[in-house]
Amino acid sequence: MDHPPFHHQSVLLDATVELLDLRPGGTWLDGTLGGGGHAERILQGTAPDGLLLGIDRDPQALAAAGRRLSAYGDRFRAVRGAFGDMAALVGDRAPFDGILLDLGVSSPQLDQGARGFSLQHDGPVDMRMDPEHGQPVAALLDGLDEAGLARILHELGEEPRARRIARAVLAGRPWTSTLALADCVARASGYHGSRVHPATRTFQALRMAVNDELGQLDRALRDAPDLLAPGGRLAVISFHSLEDRMVKHRFRELSGVGAPTDAYGAPLAPPAFELVTRKGLTGAEADPANPRARSARLRVLRRLPA
Ligand SMILES: C[S@@+](CC[C@H](N)C(=O)[O-])C[C@H]1O[C@@H](n2cnc3c(N)ncnc32)[C@H](O)[C@@H]1O
Repeated sequence: MDHPPFHHQSVLLDATVELLDLRPGGTWLDGTLGGGGHAERILQGTAPDGLLLGIDRDPQALAAAGRRLSAYGDRFRAVRGAFGDMAALVGDRAPFDGILLDLGVSSPQLDQGARGFSLQHDGPVDMRMDPEHGQPVAALLDGLDEAGLARILHELGEEPRARRIARAVLAGRPWTSTLALADCVARASGYHGSRVHPATRTFQALRMAVNDELGQLDRALRDAPDLLAPGGRLAVISFHSLEDRMVKHRFRELSGVGAPTDAYGAPLAPPAFELVTRKGLTGAEADPANPRARSARLRVLRRLPA
């Protein structure tokens, strides 16, 4: 049977596997399996007997990763679902020696017109990572008023011209073509001559809204630390300043940064975690040749041994 090709260039690969502190054996979780690029490196770095569980909500990604990683036999298992539900999805496989979240979308999701994310190839106005659950962007737009859409574009897309774009988009409903929507946004925005497509921020915001990306991250940051074994590490790669801020604050809170101290400067309650990366590692520092890594930042947290 023919499968569509799944080309995704993994970001910060070397830095991620190094900071996850891979070693033979153990149990590992990749919450964003995608094409299996990071997963394969984890399986290699934990050979001969490390086990890896992968989660993704995109059936195409699961199929592609399954083909790529079939040579690893029983060492690799995949489950379909959202990483915000990881506590329920992993069952009795926890605790983990390492958990990875490589946020956002994969290149095949962005590039295939039929998925509805693309600014270059026409398709339905969809943008769901899991095409069988939730509502497509077209339905989201049908249910919004101008203020609601402008808020999404402003908060998730950091779009300065949110209000006028929202007005034009709502006037053009119903939307059945991504290229027509992108064209409407471009005209309403009044941006000319910029390097990126004028609808980039709008598409990003709609994608994040329809997939509840910040809600998913919030739930994962709440649950993942408890699924780590003593000494286990949580690595998160984010591509958006709002996501990175959430990761930074949660990691600082868990590692006791800014927590109350006694008169000698010792923490009142000793933290159970420590920061492995103080400031995080950027794509520009650790993966400069990879254009996908340009806006990436990797942060790693470690559960202290009991
Ligand atoms: C950037 S790609 C991961 C690429 C992968 N690390 C690799 O090297 O091939 C992100 C993947 O995470 C998935 N994803 C994003 N948010 C998710 C969520 N909340 N739950 C499950 N999967 C999610 C997407 O469907 C996509 O396949």
